[in-house]
Amino acid sequence: MTKTTIIAPANIAFVKYWGRRNDNLILPLNPSVSMNMSGCTTTTSCEWGEWEEDSIKIKFKGKEMVEASGAAREKALKVIDRVREKLGTKFRVRIESENNFPEATGIASSASGFSALTKALYESFDASLSEKEMTIETRLSGSGSACRSIPDGFVVWDKGDNDDGSDSYAYSIAPAKHWELVDLVCVVDIGNKKVSSGEGHVRPKNEYMQARLRNIESRVSETISAIKEKDLEKLGVVTEIEAMSLHTVCMMSEPPIFYLNGATFEVMATIRELRKKGIMAYYTMDAGANVHVITEMQYLPEVKSALSKIDKVVMMIENVSTNGARIL
Ligand code: DP6
Repeated sequence: MTKTTIIAPANIAFVKYWGRRNDNLILPLNPSVSMNMSGCTTTTSCEWGEWEEDSIKIKFKGKEMVEASGAAREKALKVIDRVREKLGTKFRVRIESENNFPEATGIASSASGFSALTKALYESFDASLSEKEMTIETRLSGSGSACRSIPDGFVVWDKGDNDDGSDSYAYSIAPAKHWELVDLVCVVDIGNKKVSSGEGHVRPKNEYMQARLRNIESRVSETISAIKEKDLEKLGVVTEIEAMSLHTVCMMSEPPIFYLNGATFEVMATIRELRKKGIMAYYTMDAGANVHVITEMQYLPEVKSALSKIDKVVMMIENVSTNGARIL
């Protein structure tokens, strides 16, 4: 057993994971497709030993490394206890985790955080898991979308059909270098989300969920072929429809969930205006108000210049496609 450090990226979904068919096994209602983000990473080190207690330290950009507390500690401990049981050990861990993006931006740190933690726990125990097994273990960490941060570049997470979840795993459909696609995260809301994704996944189903699921397989195929063909327009069109489908489902849940705010719509309108001028950029939003602008390098300067004129845009974070979780 050796101290091991893992760096893992967050990921942005073009086809979103929303809703579960099994809550315990974190089995999704639909497949999802994403890209790893180069500019939003978590670096986590892990060491096993005969200590009295687990130590879980966390550091956000510009802040001190502190012992994790509250919900963050509980979630991490749940993962650690699960892995400890799986490995059949009573050893304790020393974890140190650092995010390269600020805590308060509302960017989901859970995908990078939980993929880094899961991989660090196994690798430092010298447990050799295949990539497929590692994505399944990461899926079980609770943050399902984290499993897409394990493989490289552009990634599909299959929903699987088996009841035991053995065929619900993530795999790469194209390496990071295949396409230098940009995700410019446009931060308009620095507060924490009011309704967690976890809560959203289990909100009572509604008629719009059925409509969403009827179209999802064709959107997945369209997205995969757009990525393989490096066709930005094809990817952008399906990504925007897909984001609207997710937020319609959220708004039609009981009780409703409203993630988007006025600033989100302002950014969306700006992006549509840019397209009229031939600047190819598209938007998507996760469980929050911040906008992920999907574009290519050649359009980036004009996109950034237009968005920086919007008052409510507090920060922009540039990402290109990158590799999945790896040992440092
Ligand atoms: C809207 O349960 O994986 O981002 O709450 O960040 O752990 P966390 O997320 P998770 O749900 C992700 C929901 C989503 C869509 C997506 O990334 O596929």
